[in-house]
Amino acid sequence: MSFQNRTDSTSRTFNEESIQHSTNKDNIIITAALPYANGEIHLGHIASTYLPADIFARYSRLAGKDVCYVCGTDDYGTPVLVKAEQENKSPSAYVDYWNKKDFQDFKSIGISFDFFSKTSSVENVEFVQYVFRELHKEGLIYNKNVTQFYCEYDQKFLPDRYVKGRCPVCGAENQYSDLCEKCGSIPNEILDPKCSICERPPVKRNSLHYFFRLSSFSVELRDWLQNNNNLEGEVKRYVLNWIDKGLQDWDITRDLSWGIPIPLPDADGKVFYGWFDNHLCYISSFATFMKQRHNATTEECQRVWNESVIYHFIGKDIVYHHFLFLPAVRMGIKRRYKLPDFMPTRGHLLLYNKKISKSRNWYIGLSDFLARNNPDYLRFYLALVTPNSQADTNFDWNDFADRVNNDLIDNIGNFVNRSLSFISRAYNGKVPLPGQYDSIDKEGIEEIENISHQAGEFLLKNEADKGLKRILEFSRFFNQYFQKKQPWKNKEITASAGSPDATATTLFISVNAVASLAILLEPFIPFSSEKIWSQLGMEVSSDVHYLKWTHASKLNIKSGHSIASIRPIFQKIDSKEVAKEKARFTK
Ligand code: MF3
Ligand code: ZN
Repeated sequence: MSFQNRTDSTSRTFNEESIQHSTNKDNIIITAALPYANGEIHLGHIASTYLPADIFARYSRLAGKDVCYVCGTDDYGTPVLVKAEQENKSPSAYVDYWNKKDFQDFKSIGISFDFFSKTSSVENVEFVQYVFRELHKEGLIYNKNVTQFYCEYDQKFLPDRYVKGRCPVCGAENQYSDLCEKCGSIPNEILDPKCSICERPPVKRNSLHYFFRLSSFSVELRDWLQNNNNLEGEVKRYVLNWIDKGLQDWDITRDLSWGIPIPLPDADGKVFYGWFDNHLCYISSFATFMKQRHNATTEECQRVWNESVIYHFIGKDIVYHHFLFLPAVRMGIKRRYKLPDFMPTRGHLLLYNKKISKSRNWYIGLSDFLARNNPDYLRFYLALVTPNSQADTNFDWNDFADRVNNDLIDNIGNFVNRSLSFISRAYNGKVPLPGQYDSIDKEGIEEIENISHQAGEFLLKNEADKGLKRILEFSRFFNQYFQKKQPWKNKEITASAGSPDATATTLFISVNAVASLAILLEPFIPFSSEKIWSQLGMEVSSDVHYLKWTHASKLNIKSGHSIASIRPIFQKIDSKEVAKEKARFTK
């Protein structure tokens, strides 16, 4: 059973046991910010959100946790509707296309979601309306008339991205009324407004809107931020700063035809703002997963949610929504679904030190990238260069090729290949019996014994870059070990397999270090880790995804075991290819 098929009934995630007994700290729910269903997944998405969350999900599974990693597309909101209209498609057909495409793209880079849903699912629509009704009952919703841009030509209200104009803060032209991409501010009132459909200047009209009393949560939000030590200090500081400046109540209504209807008689034709419903999909899709997979009841879903450790992985551009709107809404429904324990927040990926922009064609689409490149190379590189912080990282083709060629292939690939091919040649593929360990061997054994704990510490803290560096050190250590022991010089290598000599000892320890590497690398480069596992002669190569992390510190391969036939696992990236790819970005 390969991990791609983990979605069958024998799924090892959130099993019956976790429903029946509260296994508490062993359940982990991981979410990654839902991508808008309006365009292809690019390298920036992968680096800031989906890969860090996937490495953590895979590590946690190996560490014996019961993991549920959920995601889905963000189907509502003006960014999606504007695009659908530009392409002359119905919004529902449009989001359907992207939902399937995104899922395939994620799969092709090994993102191991346990469930992939969408904000327009029946379950989410029902859940969002339920949450709204509860907030309404609690007196946390009120309505009032607000002046909105209206296009008389198109006969439409023009929320958010339907209006373009000059940013009143920085003066940048052609910015949306809900976000200036130049200075990052949310303009109070855009200058020289134009309808983004017909380019005509809009007029102003009144419309009845619903507001969520965000301002009444200041104290509770501040408390939550200050008392939750898992939240990152840097992010906390600026969220607290926003609270200190005073929170405004939040307009959750849009006059659009595409969205979740507001379930009140006087709200006919109005829908929720996309940021009201999208984060609720974290909960509704988890519940749907539990119901579909394990026949759980709503009460059981709620209990398992509350007994799990919750991680929401996000990029730094959506901090406001995740640290204020999301917790306040959950507080508003009396924390019936608990607040997140962790919200790992990462910076942007830059391309040649410039911000990624689809409209300026400054981006690398994932499926385009994977058409010519190994998915594990991208995972490896991004994992290595993305710190667990809000600092931006840079993508550069030369650096990408260097890291892959030097750190992955010359270091790891070389060690795996030289160990396995030696066994293949000198011992007919049979792992030899070790002899007495000398002091160098003992150091090797110690390195194996220490590695799972030392690398695991970093992964547990979501410091995948540091964890990977520690694993690279491990591999470097064993290349040096091989070098020092010089097994090829030992005359006895021709002795029959199983002779307890120094060469046999070296190879016995090396092949075990290779097995450790296969396990340690699984969260980072799962496709290659399977290949290593299969060349080691393990019957079911996909088993590597279901091993235990601590097994990386054991001697998993016994003498007498037959390895499989050996082929190089990796191929170097050719400098000519790099030059071609680079040409686009260095004009
Ligand atoms: N679609 C949003 C974006 O790309 C993220 C939504 S995350 C969720 O910025 F929490 F709201 F689901
Ligand atoms: Zn117009």
